[in-house]
Amino acid sequence: MTHSMNLQLLEQKAFSRGVNIDAITNLFHQKSVTTPLLVLSKSEIRRNYDSMIEALPRVKIHYAVKPNSHETIISEVYNRGGNFDVCSAGEIKKILKTGINPATLIHSHPIKSVPEFDYAVGEGLELFVVDNIDEIEKLKRYDKKLKIMIRFRINTNNTAVVNLQYKFGCQVDDVLPLAQKIREYGHDFYGLCFHIGSQCTYAENYIKAIEAAHQLINQLDMEKFDVRLLDIGGGFPVEYAEPIPSIKEFCAPIGEALDAHIRPGINVISEPGRYIAASPVTLISSIVGKSMRDGKMWYYLDDGLYSTFSGIVFDHCQYPVFSNKTGEDKLSVLAGPTCDSFDVMYDGLMIPEHNIGDKLMFTNTGAYCEASGSNFNSLKRPEYIVID
Ligand SMILES: Cc1ncc(COP(=O)(O)O)c(C=O)c1O
Repeated sequence: MTHSMNLQLLEQKAFSRGVNIDAITNLFHQKSVTTPLLVLSKSEIRRNYDSMIEALPRVKIHYAVKPNSHETIISEVYNRGGNFDVCSAGEIKKILKTGINPATLIHSHPIKSVPEFDYAVGEGLELFVVDNIDEIEKLKRYDKKLKIMIRFRINTNNTAVVNLQYKFGCQVDDVLPLAQKIREYGHDFYGLCFHIGSQCTYAENYIKAIEAAHQLINQLDMEKFDVRLLDIGGGFPVEYAEPIPSIKEFCAPIGEALDAHIRPGINVISEPGRYIAASPVTLISSIVGKSMRDGKMWYYLDDGLYSTFSGIVFDHCQYPVFSNKTGEDKLSVLAGPTCDSFDVMYDGLMIPEHNIGDKLMFTNTGAYCEASGSNFNSLKRPEYIVID
């Protein structure tokens, strides 16, 4: 059973992080505001970017655009000196609008269709990721010498909420033969990468992968490969329903493992997506209908599982719920605006009684929410408003 939180608690939590959320609560209280509305805070993007840099000073950030490619997030990261991880022609187009040198981007998709690959090379990207021999065969098409990273996977005792080692990453033993093939085809084997899984609360998984990278680098050295880059992926966790350590605490042992195992001549990058994009976005949604059904109070909102809340299904998230109502908590259900019965976001939520027209607020809705949403029933997706 989940409880909603009072807005005062949100204000207190923000205050303890030195954050002023007046702009968001003012919008929440405004009667005339049109919902559903996604409030995007520029200062929160900057805060997240800076705290990652502080937590892992050796690691350069390539923001993974996939969780949210809003132009404001891209420009804030770019203005901070950040770089990008892209996976498709669509993402490349959005990123190149900043004026960034395409040769500095990482294309991190281990499987690229030939047209996608051609497009990226044609636009001037040089750094690519592979994890199998058939992908390496595609390299024969290109006269230009490309920088190729190999993505490997490791076994872990605990898995991140989203397991990104299931679909990609070669076995550690396959790295050397793949690197040899890259060299044979006249391309530049450039380094190693892994992605330990998204919303990973286990720092030990990163450490294990860094130790595996160390062993691989030793093997590659013996075969005269020049490893210049290690990419430690994304996965850094965000506080949804469960408390998690601060990014500084979480990353401290990861930074130590890098210093212990990866020699200074090797550059290290990461591809955080969720950590940068989740907390800057807050959803404000209105109750558009209400019905007592089987002893529970059902509220029908103007945003649902087919739109912003699609992350509940695809990203296994529970977004914190905030309300400004007081009174006795009642067993409630929050459902979305479509006519589909699957469109239910919270069943068993304890909140005080609300009326049609009241608003609710949901935090940390910036990562992978709109990426997986649709226009079921041709309903309008929420608009963004950019603040700070
Ligand atoms: C290759 C790659 N890099 C980075 C990311 C971003 O991961 P996260 O949002 O967990 O930081 C993903 C997520 O799917 C990914 O597939």
